[in-house]
Amino acid sequence: MSTTIVNSKAETRKKFTIRDFRLKKKRGEPITMLTAYDYPTALAVDRAGIDSILVGDSLGMVVLGYETTLPVTMEDMLHHCQAVARGAQYALRIGDMPFMSYQVSVEQAVANAGRFLQEAGMDAVKLEGGRERAEAVHQIVAAGIPVMGHLGLTPQSVNQLGGWRSQGRTASAARRLLDDALALEEAGAFSVVLESVPDRLAELVSQKLRIPTIGIGAGVGCDGQVLVTHDLLGLFDRFTPKFVKQYASIHGVMAEAFAGFKADVEAKVFPAEEHTMGMKDEEWEGLLKEIGG
Ligand code: KIV
Repeated sequence: MSTTIVNSKAETRKKFTIRDFRLKKKRGEPITMLTAYDYPTALAVDRAGIDSILVGDSLGMVVLGYETTLPVTMEDMLHHCQAVARGAQYALRIGDMPFMSYQVSVEQAVANAGRFLQEAGMDAVKLEGGRERAEAVHQIVAAGIPVMGHLGLTPQSVNQLGGWRSQGRTASAARRLLDDALALEEAGAFSVVLESVPDRLAELVSQKLRIPTIGIGAGVGCDGQVLVTHDLLGLFDRFTPKFVKQYASIHGVMAEAFAGFKADVEAKVFPAEEHTMGMKDEEWEGLLKEIGG
C-alpha cells in the first residue's frame, strides 16, 4: 500500500512504491528514474518529482573515478545509499548490488540485499543478469525485498561482453535477452532495466512483460527511462554515451566558478568587507593592552 507523506508545507505527496511502477505501466504513463549518490542530489531529484532514485554502481565511475564499476564494494554502496536515503523522501529508492555481492551464492545475495534495506534506507535492490540470476532474484524477493533486474549492456560483465558494446543486435542474442527478461519476471522481479539494446527489441520486451521496463539507450518504447545524473548534468566529462541527452553543462559552470575564486583570492578581492567578521574597538584595545601590543 502507498504511504502518504505530509511535509512541512502541508503539501501531500505519495511515496512512490513498486505498486505504482505497475500502475504506471498499466496506464501507459512513463516512469522516471535518475541516479543519485549523495544527499543534495537526492534532495533535488526528489523535489523535481522523479518517481525513483537509483543509487547506481555507476558511482564507481562518475564519483569515485574508477575506469569500470568492478571495484565498487558493498561498503561504498551502503555509505552512498545512506546519504541518498536522508535526501529522498518520496521517490522509490533502489540500491544497486555491486560486483561479487550476489554472484557467489544465493545465500550471500539474500544477505547483502537485506543490508540495503536494513542499514541503508533503500526500498529495493537492483542486480545485473538474466536466467543465471533467477534463483537469487527468487530468494531475495521471498525475503521480502523487491528486485529490479538489468539486461543488455550490463557493466559488471564488461570483460565478458568484450567492451562497452550494445547488446541484442542479432536474432539469437535478441531471443536470449527476451527469454532472460521473462525469466526475471517469473522469478519475481518488479521491473527490468534494458541498457543499450535496439529500440524495437526493447519495445517488444516491454510488450511481452507484465512488469515495467526502464530503458537507458533502449528507445522510447520502454515503460520508463533512466539516465545517470552526472551525464544528464554534464558533470562527468570523460565520455558521454550516444544515448545521453545533456540538460546542463555543470562541469563548465564548476570550472568557471573555481577559476573565479582563484582569481579573486590572488587579486585579494575575496574575502571582501561583507564576508568579514568585525570586532568592537574596545575589545580590540583590550586585547592589545593584555598582550602589551
Ligand atoms: O549503475 C547505474 O547507474 C545503472 C544505470 C545505468 C541503470 O545501472
